[in-house]
Amino acid sequence: MNLRSKKSNVLLCVTGGIAAYKAPHIVRGFVQLGWDVRVILTESAEAFVSPMVLATLSKNRVWVEKDFLSVEGGSQIPHISLAEWADVVIVAPCSADTASRLAIGGGGRLMDSAVLATKAPVVVFPAMNVNMLYHPATRENLDRLVALGYTVVDPDSGDLACGYEGQGRLPDREVILEEAKRALSVKDMDGLSVVVTAGPTREFMDPVRFISNPSSGKMGYALARTAWYRGADVELITGPVNLTPPHGVKVSPVISAQEMLDSAVSAMGGCDIMVKAAAVGDYRFSSVSEKKIKRKGLDVMEVSLINNPDIAATLGSVKRPDQTLVGFAAETDNLTLNATEKLKSKGLDMIVANDLTEEGSGFGSNTNRVIMLGVEGVLREMAGDKEIVADGIWDQVLELRGKS
Ligand SMILES: Cc1cc2nc3c(=O)[nH]c(=O)nc-3n(C[C@H](O)[C@H](O)[C@H](O)COP(=O)(O)O)c2cc1C
Repeated sequence: MNLRSKKSNVLLCVTGGIAAYKAPHIVRGFVQLGWDVRVILTESAEAFVSPMVLATLSKNRVWVEKDFLSVEGGSQIPHISLAEWADVVIVAPCSADTASRLAIGGGGRLMDSAVLATKAPVVVFPAMNVNMLYHPATRENLDRLVALGYTVVDPDSGDLACGYEGQGRLPDREVILEEAKRALSVKDMDGLSVVVTAGPTREFMDPVRFISNPSSGKMGYALARTAWYRGADVELITGPVNLTPPHGVKVSPVISAQEMLDSAVSAMGGCDIMVKAAAVGDYRFSSVSEKKIKRKGLDVMEVSLINNPDIAATLGSVKRPDQTLVGFAAETDNLTLNATEKLKSKGLDMIVANDLTEEGSGFGSNTNRVIMLGVEGVLREMAGDKEIVADGIWDQVLELRGKS
């Protein structure tokens, strides 16, 4: 079980950059995840954000520079106790100044000493003026932080508070939360290249009408996110959905089944694992009108549909022995029988079967109840939040690959 699914302790280190004003929002994000948050502010950061706001939101005392060499804490040594307490350390925003101190392993301030003393993963979010960011001294410092084993997340580009335009913005809070979750994950998929297909496909009949299905894409997106948390290099081939593209994942949007096939086939050659969680339409219209089809007063309108390419079978036929191909079967009846038949006929290594008629399972739901089947029968059954189920699917895929 990954630590990120438990209540985790996050030490948020806030430095004196203008983006420090976003620290309360970041604290709330961690609190909403159910994590315990403690905050250290540098002396400069106190000029940008109030310790009282951060203490109120984190429901913990906030540590400031004057607490470092103070006798008020008695025998408690703040930088050591905070370093030991933390499961993950987030430096956001990280100023150029703090980056330079962390790069030389300076321990002259509370925050720097806590970072030196911790065994927890450290994730650094530099945020500054674009010229400061691209200065060779800053580049060297950030490279040095990477060499020290810290994760350094590139700032975003856009309007900067200093009036410049360019790279240097603190990434969105979601990115900070996602990077923290990744830092807490076991990297048992490191070095693996994974492709996940997700969502529905659309088959247009004219420019304004299509047939599709209610797939939300949530299961596929959860698979992509969790594989990235676990260290995989991930491509997500996605039909049209209302979900935020996952951070850290290469997203390849498609609309029709043919486009999904083309993207999946071109990604297949370079991947280790392909998971087909998309709900691909079996049929498309035999002809597509370039102009909107008018009503014409008909009571009945007949359309003809033709078979779409079978993506699973196509991928199954080109799969190499070192690759793992996983399909999904969403069924309304004879779940195990139908899924096993699909597994065998399409040359899959594993199929994840879910019963669309069951409560808490399938389309649109945040939870799923699945049976994972291999050529030899049932491998594992799982129910719960789609992210938990996704982790279970990866556990099973890794187990299968270990055997092959
Ligand atoms: C208004 C203002 C905004 C600043 N914004 C940034 C910033 O976004 N990034 C940065 O690296 N430094 C920024 N600085 C400079 C830092 O505050 C300064 O380097 C300070 O020494 C950082 O200390 P610390 O890293 O210990 O917090 C800013 C300074 C001022 C006066």
